[in-house]
Amino acid sequence: MTNSYRITLLPGDGIGPEIIAVAVEILKAVGKQCDIEFTFTEALMGGAAIEATGEPLPQATLETCRESDAVLLAAIGGYKWDHLPRHQRPETGLLGLRAGLELFANLRPAKILPQLVDASPLKGEIVEGVDIMVVRELTGGVYFGEPKGIFRTETGQQRGVNTMAYTDAEVDRIAKVAFEIAQKRNRQLCSVDKANVLEVSQLWRDRVSALSSSYPEIELSHLYVDNAAMQLVRAPKQFDTIVTGNLFGDILSDAAAMLTGSIGMLPSASMGEGKPAVFEPVHGSAPDIAGEDKANPLAQVLSAAMMLRYGLDEATAADKIEQAVFQVLDQGYRTGDIMSDGMTFVGCQQMGEALLKALS
Ligand code: IPM
Ligand code: MG
Repeated sequence: MTNSYRITLLPGDGIGPEIIAVAVEILKAVGKQCDIEFTFTEALMGGAAIEATGEPLPQATLETCRESDAVLLAAIGGYKWDHLPRHQRPETGLLGLRAGLELFANLRPAKILPQLVDASPLKGEIVEGVDIMVVRELTGGVYFGEPKGIFRTETGQQRGVNTMAYTDAEVDRIAKVAFEIAQKRNRQLCSVDKANVLEVSQLWRDRVSALSSSYPEIELSHLYVDNAAMQLVRAPKQFDTIVTGNLFGDILSDAAAMLTGSIGMLPSASMGEGKPAVFEPVHGSAPDIAGEDKANPLAQVLSAAMMLRYGLDEATAADKIEQAVFQVLDQGYRTGDIMSDGMTFVGCQQMGEALLKALS
């Protein structure tokens, strides 16, 4: 029997359209092999949407996403839109998508591939074997807390305000996701907060600790975020699964990504309680190399694999894509961001062709 899925594609800005084109070809090829049919619908988001409609996340895009089985997003943003007022910025569109689809759990795996140990800026002995899953809360915390804004004080000064807030229910639901992920991994969960200073973190820590009695087989630890940042670069292998709030997760997931050599390799998933989830590379839109066929499409391709595995429950197809990625790396193909001596330098499209060959 053929399984059919409706996939919304959000190519966005910068290198987005180039890398998502590669992922679509790979999905079509693997679909043929595994008897899966995809219907792709492209929608506008980010700078591309601002140009066409004046808003970074048109209502029509949100609706198209809601009607699909999964969303594959590339990247958004660019210098061109940086000066716009906040409500019109591409980033605001991304936050709107997360809030609109209630994607409260962001999964950001940082796993070093043996082929790329030399691409890491840290010593091989420190990063070899690193396999971390950062579970970042995505629809709460200081990104969304009220009040927020730039206000005038009584003395006429300007005062910028954001509010870091979590309810117990918000902490519980993300902690539950993290415990369950840890269960499928090495059963170690490290919760990161700033409970030595922040009340919101105290509540976070209390709730995560309370929940741990339901998961006796998971070893739970807590770290303050400053220490966690240090430990991530000092001895990253001590981590298995990390759970943390929105802002801390934003920062720590970039640091964890770089351990693996290139942020150009890492996929992510943003999920809520129901469907659809959004799958996207961790990296941004890289406007400096857009349109030059220099981008690394592998994070996007691995995001498509994550979509198959976590969003559509098509593990066999996901495995095939991941195997193809390992194979092209074994064959020595490298885009600029992961290039090293003796390897074969390729562009975005050539990398796509090598993947297709590896698949067939
Ligand atoms: C990320 C990005 C976003 C974030 C920006 C683009 C709004 O940095 O996905 O990590 O801060 O969440
Ligand atoms: Mg970020």
